[in-house]
Amino acid sequence: MLNIETYKSTFLRHMEQSVLKKEPRNLYEPIEYILNLGGKRLRPILVLISADIFGGHHNNALDAALAIEIFHNFSLVHDDIMDDAPIRRGQETVHEKWDLNTGILSGDAMLINAYQLFENYPSELFKPLASLFTKTAIEVCEGQQYDVDFEERDDVKIDEYLKMIEYKTAVLVGAALKMGAIVSKASQTAQDEIYEFGRLLGIAFQIQDDYLDAFGNEAVFGKQIGGDIIENKKTYLYLKALELADKNSADQLKHLYTISPNQPQNKIETAKQIFLDSGAADATKAKISDFTNEAFKHLEKLEISEESKSFLKNFGTNLMNRSM
Ligand code: IPE
Ligand code: IPE
Ligand code: MG
Ligand code: MG
Ligand code: MG
Repeated sequence: MLNIETYKSTFLRHMEQSVLKKEPRNLYEPIEYILNLGGKRLRPILVLISADIFGGHHNNALDAALAIEIFHNFSLVHDDIMDDAPIRRGQETVHEKWDLNTGILSGDAMLINAYQLFENYPSELFKPLASLFTKTAIEVCEGQQYDVDFEERDDVKIDEYLKMIEYKTAVLVGAALKMGAIVSKASQTAQDEIYEFGRLLGIAFQIQDDYLDAFGNEAVFGKQIGGDIIENKKTYLYLKALELADKNSADQLKHLYTISPNQPQNKIETAKQIFLDSGAADATKAKISDFTNEAFKHLEKLEISEESKSFLKNFGTNLMNRSM
């Protein structure tokens, strides 16, 4: 096992060698831009860690890791269009820096590039990797559609929200870990357990993302604070506040999520105050911790070294306490 920073730099070196400057520039420049904007690189790091944990070598997992990171970045480019987001990783989003069509087509090319990378694997690995990838990618689209549908609905249930974030975010975290296991030829049971670990960690991760969208620091988080409130996203914070707040505040919150003021600052501040006063912010924190602990239970079932288990636990704990 290496440390996280070494996995990250190994991955970044591979990405640099693989993502070449190509023509037409108007297609590839935005791709290079978003891929080089930084980001935590969590998913590719998880692919590499998983490959090592299951007894293979992370070098064999580099292309799978790159596929996952390119797919993730594709989803961000299109997500930022759908969410009308101005900033990503502290910089202009692709559709703001260029335009809508550029964001659409560069995103499309990234999605196809990601899939193409699995062709570098021998057929016995290509098949399971590609089929996990396609299943996951379709689920991400389904999750994204639910997310958008929920903006217009005022009767979203917490279970529906959890399903939505499982699809838009968590399955990719599960798939990242499972790909490492596939490359290292781990047993089917091991593949399923590590996927479950990732899926639950991914749910915690998205609830935390929703929390930071309201209560994070823009300079650290790298995204517009209050973006979810502006877009009427039915997040855990919002749904829990409706459940916990007194009737007046709940009605006020519901009303706020039907209006689109030109100056949204008041809407953001009022919503955040209701999240805090109702106890929804604390409940959200607790839920993140619950899902993280649920994830850890799946590590116990795995026949991997104690060192590997504590490494993954440490990773999960750090994720839960992140501010970016
Ligand atoms: C952002 O993912 C999208 C979500 C699923 C919340 P990350 O927070 O992993 O984004 P980067 O890659 O580090 O910027
Ligand atoms: C991200 O959800 C899910 C995908 C990109 C597939 P968000 O819309 O919450 O992600 P951010 O906050 O823009 O990164
Ligand atoms: Mg978004
Ligand atoms: Mg979104
Ligand atoms: Mg978000």
